[in-house]
Amino acid sequence: MPDKEVLPLHIAVIMDGNGRWAKKRGLPRVMGHRAGMKAVKEITKSCRDLGIKYLTLYAFSSENWKRPKAEVDALMRFLEEYIDKELRSFIKNGIRLNFIGRMGALPDFVRPKLKKAMEATADCGNMTLNVALNYSGRDEIVDAAKKFASQVKAGKLGADDLDEGSFSGFLYTAGQPDPDLLIRTSGEMRISNFLLWQISYAELYVTPKLWPDFRRGDLIDAINEYRKRERRFGA
Ligand code: IPE
Ligand code: IPE
Ligand code: MG
Repeated sequence: MPDKEVLPLHIAVIMDGNGRWAKKRGLPRVMGHRAGMKAVKEITKSCRDLGIKYLTLYAFSSENWKRPKAEVDALMRFLEEYIDKELRSFIKNGIRLNFIGRMGALPDFVRPKLKKAMEATADCGNMTLNVALNYSGRDEIVDAAKKFASQVKAGKLGADDLDEGSFSGFLYTAGQPDPDLLIRTSGEMRISNFLLWQISYAELYVTPKLWPDFRRGDLIDAINEYRKRERRFGA
């Protein structure tokens, strides 16, 4: 198990490859998403046990609405089931749930559950789990700019009050450290509109493993690779 001191404080994951995992087995894509949920549970638990303080999972992007309705509907039902089944374990394990993205566009049957889960885990202190839903990194930056503008309009802030630090405070991840390590499964070498502001100095780790095949041992491999990296931050 990796050394505590050199553990990343914040890990972000682009969980990709559910569809290909299913296709390889001749199964419908939704079965890949179901298998992906198991990986979510295992990786969340592993991060918590390893002492990772922040984990951010890309679960549904703003662009994912372009998929067939049946697939989107299945993903929303899985999300509901995930919260219903896991909430008690989050509380037991001290995991604070935080959903990031434009929640307003999610179906009526999930929104109250998200709110309830965030409230029920608000005091959990072992790890913060951000789940990105209807998330777009560009939308997040636009939303932050709007929040800042409304403060200016209300006379509470002036243009000179804006700097990197204060701008970060308007993002969905306000108050959290930036990800140190960004993992993407399924081999794609792209960011797909994820955490554009926050990953400016994240170490990138791309593995060919498809998300449903990503296990605790793969997470530890990624962390060990991260520990070997020399982070220079331009210096
Ligand atoms: C990632 O797997 C999960 C979501 C985007 C919801 P994909 O569904 O993108 O799987 P591939 O990339 O088609 O294999
Ligand atoms: C990114 O995966 C979004 C999530 C993992 C939720 P996609 O499969 O949607 O990204 P692209 O289409 O390969 O860029
Ligand atoms: Mg994909």
